[in-house]
Amino acid sequence: MEKKNLDWANLSFSYIKTDKRFVANYKNGAWEDGQLIDDDKVVITECAGVLQYSQSCFEGLKAYTTEDGHVVCFRPDLNAQRMEDSCRRLEMPVFPAARFVDAVVETVRANLAWVPPYGSGATLYIRPYMFASSAVIGVKPADEYQFRILVTPVGPYFKGGAKPITIRVSDFDRAAPRGTGNIKAGLNYAMSLHPIMDAHRQGYAENMYLDPATRTKVEETGGANFIFITKDGKLVTPKSDSILPSITRRSLLYVAQHYLNMEVEEREVPLTEVPSFAEVGLCGTAAVISPVGKIVNHDEEICVPSGMDAMGPVLTKLYDTLTGIQMGRIEAPEGWIKHIA
Ligand code: PLP
Ligand code: COI
Repeated sequence: MEKKNLDWANLSFSYIKTDKRFVANYKNGAWEDGQLIDDDKVVITECAGVLQYSQSCFEGLKAYTTEDGHVVCFRPDLNAQRMEDSCRRLEMPVFPAARFVDAVVETVRANLAWVPPYGSGATLYIRPYMFASSAVIGVKPADEYQFRILVTPVGPYFKGGAKPITIRVSDFDRAAPRGTGNIKAGLNYAMSLHPIMDAHRQGYAENMYLDPATRTKVEETGGANFIFITKDGKLVTPKSDSILPSITRRSLLYVAQHYLNMEVEEREVPLTEVPSFAEVGLCGTAAVISPVGKIVNHDEEICVPSGMDAMGPVLTKLYDTLTGIQMGRIEAPEGWIKHIA
């Protein structure tokens, strides 16, 4: 397989148009088979539900080249399930899980030349998404939808890769109590754009959002869940109904317990507890594990003991084990790795 001529080691997390994308339409109450197409343009009515009332959701996963030269992806069945949850909450039709996984495999196979080589530090980001494509003017769900999958090679989500970042506690909320924080709705990200741009203007890489009901507990960032390491080496991660159930976080809890013999706690994390942690990280498909070195809450600066130079030792072990599983260096738990090529 002849690879595209890209500077793989220096890719950023941005869109590059690849050769093929998957498209399936929902019409008259049923999904058509779907197919791979060349055209990256979407043509929809000016009154489409997605344009008027943001009826859309998406997923994110990655394909990896393994040490022995295969191409795989990581737990796509969980992305299919989460997209089902998103669709149900947004009154959109579910794209069946088995067909979701098949379409992911088909789309990556059609773009193998774009899958970054092993050891390059880059991966192929896979973005399944669905939107309301038919006209609505009264506030109601559309009758027709389009499900698509695009793929694009990406580098690290945060500039500087594994360098610790500085974040701030946001004065804005990411989600409402009993709202849509626990699904991957496009609207959640639209409302995070002002807070993230404001954070960047103030010199912060991300926002730490607090629970919207009491603003006393840690939730997540705009695009990743939190993991904390206690001084005695436990992994703690926030539990809340308004954060996205990260597949990376769920996988790390398993890896910590079963590969690294660590204790794990999924529970509420008061903001006041944060200064007591030894290491802080963000986890997600895009973020992988990104270390946090400093958290600023107005006048208060929380300097994480692991510092601003490098990822701490426990997060490093978790990172090495997770990426080792993804890239085929470490045996994966049953069912985690989907072979593509
Ligand atoms: N939280 C938010 C808000 C996200 O957008 C993401 C990215 O998907 C995550 C957490 C991490 O989830 P996952 O590990 O499934 O990619
Ligand atoms: C992902 O990690 O897949 C996401 O969707 C996060 C997004 C901010 C890029």
